Amino acid sequence: MKGIILAGGLGTRLHPLTKITNKHLLPIYGNPMIYYPIGTLINAGITDIMIVTGGNYAGDFLRLLGNGKEFGLRHINYTYQEGEGGIAAALALAEYFAEGEPICVVLGDNIIEKNIIRAVRDFEKQKKGAKILLKEVPDPERFGVAEIVKGKLVDIVEKPKKPRSNLAVIGIYMYDGRVFDIVKTLKPSDRGELEITDVNNAYVKEGTMAWDMLDGWWTDAGTFESLLRASILVSQTGANNVG
Ligand code: G1P
Repeated sequence: MKGIILAGGLGTRLHPLTKITNKHLLPIYGNPMIYYPIGTLINAGITDIMIVTGGNYAGDFLRLLGNGKEFGLRHINYTYQEGEGGIAAALALAEYFAEGEPICVVLGDNIIEKNIIRAVRDFEKQKKGAKILLKEVPDPERFGVAEIVKGKLVDIVEKPKKPRSNLAVIGIYMYDGRVFDIVKTLKPSDRGELEITDVNNAYVKEGTMAWDMLDGWWTDAGTFESLLRASILVSQTGANNVG
């Protein structure tokens, strides 16, 4: 399976910090944020990795990471997103890299404590479809929220005002090769973005979306509160053998 890290966007929720660098290069405890999603993939046995970035500081990723020697990699692939179009639009840029293979997509600001290798292995056995990971959170209205009825995932709602559960869809997604055709059918949401939740709901409707609960803590790091929380969590326990 190939891995794709989405590390573009303008990070406007973190202004003024992101006026002078890309969000994913900001520090989380002892390391730049991007180290953690790289660790997530490598710990799951995924070493063929593409980073999708954008904005004014894309060159800094190359200066920081090079070909990933520090992580034991021989090569890292990069691509550049012009402007902003949402997570699904960033993902579309990785189509030629994926070459029709199954992929594991990680949002560059999502940090986890433990390992997703079991979910990745399970997905490799799944013939088609997709797989997401869920985590109970106290503030589901900030995320994509899963509705589960009698153990079955029936819908995902992006940032609902009245969440139907406390199960956030975390930013680690596994897809079969058809995901890029699904992205091509999407229309921009009210916030003007191609939403990853719409991609996920296409698989839910088809009945091919698997899900699992994530083990250990999870946080995003795209707001001041979550950026601070991420550093505190990493300082206490480490994350993915990074930190
Ligand atoms: C995005 C997704 C959301 C998901 C979250 C995880 O939100 O749209 O469904 O739960 O990442 O971090 P955003 O970062 O765009 O607010």
